[in-house]
This record gives sequence, C-alpha cells and structure tokens, in this order.
Amino acid sequence: MTKITLIEYSGTDHTIDAEPGVSLMQAAIDNGIPGIDADCGGSCACGTCHVFVAEEWLAATGERSDMEEAMLSIRPDRSEQSRLSCQIEVTDALDGLVVRLPEFQM
Ligand code: FES
Repeated sequence: MTKITLIEYSGTDHTIDAEPGVSLMQAAIDNGIPGIDADCGGSCACGTCHVFVAEEWLAATGERSDMEEAMLSIRPDRSEQSRLSCQIEVTDALDGLVVRLPEFQM
C-alpha cells in the first residue's frame, strides 16, 4: 500500500492507503475524500479531479499529457503544481505523496 496525504482547501488533511495500480482519483474516491468530483470517471475529459501536487513530488508523478494540459488550461487556478488526479497512477514510488485540493472543482 502507498500512503498518500490529501489536504482539503480548508486545511483538513487525510492520509490514505492507496492500492498501487489505481489512479490517485480512484483511491481518493474509494476513501471518501471530499473535494474530488471526477465527473467523467477518469477519462481525462472533465477536469473535476484537479489537485496540486507538492513541489517535491512533481517529478515522481510524471509528465502531463497534451489532453491533461488542455483540460487544466480552462482552470483559473491552474498552477505549475496542477495535475488531474485521474492521470496519476499510484505506485510504490509515490509512498508519502502530498497533494492539496483546490477551493472548488469546475
Ligand atoms: Fe475527469 Fe479526471 S476524472 S478528468
């Protein structure tokens, strides 16, 4: 299992045990984390699974695809730390990952 901490906009944090091989979005949903809507079910087509990856974890979470970039570009709060959590696969290498949730999904 991979320990991942998700921090709500309010500052409330949740540390979950995620199964390697699933997406970060799915792990968050499975653990009842509020603040991720995932309207498209993980197809990189809605942008409602936006998270901010802690800077020190950006390299480990991989590159954004062109499709992910396009989805993120419509978000006014997009930053260099922005990722779509459905596009991050949980692996053992992400043990200790920290992500922040945005104020709202859109
Ligand atoms: Fe829709 Fe991630 S769940 S883009």
